[in-house]
Amino acid sequence: MNDFDTDVLVVGTGPTGSTAALALATYGIRVHLVSRWNWLANTPRAHITNQRAVEVLRDLGIEEEAKKYATPWELMGDTLFTTSLAGDEIARVRTWGTGDDRVGDYILGSPCGLLDIPQLYLEPVIFKNAVARGATYTFNTEYLSHVQDDTGVTVTVRDHLFNRDYTIRAKYLIGADGARSQIAEDIGLEIEGTMGRAATAYVLFNADLSRYVEHRPSILHWIMAPGSSFGEIGMGLLRAIRPWNKWIAGWGYNMADGDPNFDPAEITSKIRTLVGDPDLEIDIEATSTWQVNQACASHYSKGRVFCGGDAVHRHPPSSGLGSNTSVQDAFNLAWKLAFVLQGYADHAMLESYSHERQPVGRQIVARANQSRVDYGPINECFRTEGAADPIAAGLERLRDPSPEGVEVRDALGRALELKNYEFNAQGVELNQRYESCAIIPDPTAGQEEWARDRELYLQASTRPGAKLPHTWLVDSNGLRTSTLDVTGKGQFSLVTGLAGTAWVNAAHKLDLPFLRTVVIGAKGTDDPYRNWQRIREIHEAGALLVRPDGYIAWRHSPAIWDDNDAFEHLQTALAAVLATP
Ligand code: FDA
Repeated sequence: MNDFDTDVLVVGTGPTGSTAALALATYGIRVHLVSRWNWLANTPRAHITNQRAVEVLRDLGIEEEAKKYATPWELMGDTLFTTSLAGDEIARVRTWGTGDDRVGDYILGSPCGLLDIPQLYLEPVIFKNAVARGATYTFNTEYLSHVQDDTGVTVTVRDHLFNRDYTIRAKYLIGADGARSQIAEDIGLEIEGTMGRAATAYVLFNADLSRYVEHRPSILHWIMAPGSSFGEIGMGLLRAIRPWNKWIAGWGYNMADGDPNFDPAEITSKIRTLVGDPDLEIDIEATSTWQVNQACASHYSKGRVFCGGDAVHRHPPSSGLGSNTSVQDAFNLAWKLAFVLQGYADHAMLESYSHERQPVGRQIVARANQSRVDYGPINECFRTEGAADPIAAGLERLRDPSPEGVEVRDALGRALELKNYEFNAQGVELNQRYESCAIIPDPTAGQEEWARDRELYLQASTRPGAKLPHTWLVDSNGLRTSTLDVTGKGQFSLVTGLAGTAWVNAAHKLDLPFLRTVVIGAKGTDDPYRNWQRIREIHEAGALLVRPDGYIAWRHSPAIWDDNDAFEHLQTALAAVLATP
């Protein structure tokens, strides 16, 4: 008899919890989800879905479904800085990699484009597929406490429908319970940083703004308007939820003055000012506030309990990194739990989760907060403080043909350049490098040198710890298929070339159910463009060991021609990565 109600209990059905459940269910693991509310996200929240997160959706087979609910990439990025949507346009920035100078980098870097999917549309797609693949769930169920022992975790929850408490016994517990995580607190995770260092008011409203934005499509517009200038961003925000008739208006407010004034007449007037249309018909759907956090846990797990997502990294939406990082936390953890539960890896490998994901969390918390601070220099160019009307005076200065005007325009150019670190930061999004017990460094490789700015540009690499570079191969039907498509899907992949016969034989001899061999150049994974040949950084008779999450665990750069040699290398590498004797 099985003493466990489930193998993995996931608390939280947000991007972290739903992705963890989807991946685990896909890998055939018994997983149960609980959430304290009656349904999933009921407000738009996260939208920007970056390439690494879309790659996760692709690996889990839901990319196409997610795309149906997304604002497509090409409509995402002509970000405006204006005095109102109808008023003076002060600057434009090509964002989210849509600019002519950057789009090629993004296309080269991934088989997936960026998507803009409000969380209230994305969560149901992930959650529904998790449940369709066997995950079980209960809503209205609140996590209360847990106790862990040598074999599992006993979790006490409260059923709010029938007002009773009961326990669930699981082998592992995932705390995906968001920024106020009780589970992170219960396992004593040390959260470093500051919570609530600023605050923003949001209004979700319906109004057709097509005539103001259709010709310069973007999901984000910054408005220099009186009444929306409080705080470090110093501008109001119009954020498209559905192009171009559902929007969020946002502005900073002073927490010391208490809650913002959400009187309908007041917000209608504010939104009309941001749009620049005094007669605009507005249907207000909801109001909310959120606080700017700058905090990250120094470690993500304890024993059999693992926290991910906002439970361990808390930061503002600038740079759009929150749900993206959450999805990737979950994807990193899920295959590891699956491998331990299936007996392919030792529990010790699970330590790699925190070692790999915590540095990413720390980095994105810093980045998202810096992206807010970086609005300072723009504000300095747009405003002349001390003038009766600082915005009008600022605009006049910006158009001044005198040397002072030239100086301000030069300063604005530099200030806008800084925004690339928020809006065109492909490196921040894709350049993760993992170091942990589940990654074996390549002793021949030396220290990685960054050819270009690490935050702005992807540096694809086959170094252990990097994500397998994407490039297009050709399948047996003559169709293009990504290197990421022929790997992953819950399995390790041994990637070699046509000359890698010794590796193929070694893998064959090992005969492991979780290891596939990918011979690039062979039928089905042909390299007619010679793309892989250019970027693989290893000999054609060398090999890469790629993990189920697409990250490279180990590589053998020089050629190996001898079957026994290859067998020994591969066996040793797998044992080290999986922490098996
Ligand atoms: P999340 O908070 O989404 O989910 C927590 C889950 O835990 C919920 O299901 C909740 O019911 C459950 N729960 C909590 N306590 C519980 C308990 N005791 N018992 C049972 N269940 C419990 N990110 C991004 O990538 N791009 C973007 O553009 C933006 N934009 C953005 C805008 C705004 C306004 C906000 C507030 C946030 C963003 N984000 C973002 C951030 C993003 O929304 C956030 O990072 C993710 O929702 C985090 O996902 P999680 O699943 O970790 O937590």
